[in-house]
Amino acid sequence: MSMFNAPKGIPEYYPPESARFLAVRDTLGEAARRAGYGYIELPLFEDTALFARGVGESTDVVTKEMYTFPDQGGRSITLRPEGTAGVIRSVIEHGLDRGQLPLKLYYSGAFFRYERPQAGRYRQLQQVGVEAIGVDDPALDAEVIAVADEGYRRLGLTGHRIELTSLGDSTCRPEYRVKLQEFLRGLPLDEETRRRVELNPLRVLDDKRPEVQEMVADAPLMADHLSEQAAEHYESVKAHLRDLGVPFTENPRLVRGLDYYTKTTFEFVHDGLGAQSGIGGGGRYDGLMADLGGSELSGVGFGLGLDRTVLACEVEGVSVGDETRCDVYCVPLGEQGKRRLVSIAGQLRAAGLRVDVSYGGKGLKGAMKAADRSGARYALVLGDRDLEADSVQLKELATGEQRSVSLEDVVEQVRTVLAR
Ligand code: HAM
Repeated sequence: MSMFNAPKGIPEYYPPESARFLAVRDTLGEAARRAGYGYIELPLFEDTALFARGVGESTDVVTKEMYTFPDQGGRSITLRPEGTAGVIRSVIEHGLDRGQLPLKLYYSGAFFRYERPQAGRYRQLQQVGVEAIGVDDPALDAEVIAVADEGYRRLGLTGHRIELTSLGDSTCRPEYRVKLQEFLRGLPLDEETRRRVELNPLRVLDDKRPEVQEMVADAPLMADHLSEQAAEHYESVKAHLRDLGVPFTENPRLVRGLDYYTKTTFEFVHDGLGAQSGIGGGGRYDGLMADLGGSELSGVGFGLGLDRTVLACEVEGVSVGDETRCDVYCVPLGEQGKRRLVSIAGQLRAAGLRVDVSYGGKGLKGAMKAADRSGARYALVLGDRDLEADSVQLKELATGEQRSVSLEDVVEQVRTVLAR
């Protein structure tokens, strides 16, 4: 038993598996960079009111899942449960939208939601996200979806699918909401669900209980009540996705857990993951910036869940990330050998190689075992006799082949063999 444990429901990544996490984060971030998104680094906590207002007062995220506490100055602080509200806050605060539009930003980091932990659902979760702000062009929505798809594909994933729908705009959504409420009020729902009908009727469509699912089977759907403009927008997004060769399925019952979405919304689903199958999601949020005190600019983006993407790679048997820690492992035998080899290790690192050293005076056998475990291709072994001959043994670990190389040009020699 350890004296302290990590807080409940938090995944930790340590070697060698952490290489997989890094590869997932870097590959998804690279997909965003390749499409012209610039990196933004934001605070892990913000004013509570930003999330209440941005994410929506009636969402589960705001009512049940936020880590909210007073700081030493008595302000109400919340650990960020998602990234979009913070990005928009920063854009407004620093006037980042005064330049060329769309403003394209991406981010990566930890988010916090007090959810019931289970496989794939954590209280600290990691995302790579993008936000494209200031242009309401369906081609941009398609780009955002294609960037995520490209990221997953680069990792080698093939078992994901995209669910897509439109949540309508400010003209058709309020009318639809009234229609849906009228329908839902006629159902024999329990007290709490009735309250939800008044606050956030769309969420009732997402109720997982089979008896509720049965009752709402004939509920009116937003996709059938889109305004002409919203319908045109949606058709155009689909056409661009087809042009981009990004396959999708329409799910008119898709409901997202955050309130800011308008028009295009989507989710990346991986069926190998069980209940927590959403590996990423996002959509358009045309009213958010104005709601947070900024201009009337539109936006579209996604958040991709890194923890679930790592699990998806495991489920598909996709190997990502280099688990080897070094290229060369140095084995000094004796004090003199150690002084010389530690200094050579420094030179090799300066030459751009990944180099580790056997510390602590291990014997040859123990040190060679450590060399094998390190994943290095070569070991450099330096004993007293080698030192007298001004040479060092260069051993290829996979074959056991060994030869003597001069200490003077060891850096060059090692670089040459590693380049092969
Ligand atoms: P979200 O759907 O709430 O969207 O989260 C995005 C992804 O984060 C999910 O698809 C899932 O993979 C992962 N995720 C969420 N909660 C957890 C959890 N408790 N444990 C593990 N993974 C989780 C957003 O956060 C929006 N900000 C995305 C967005 C950006 N929309 C527009 N722009």
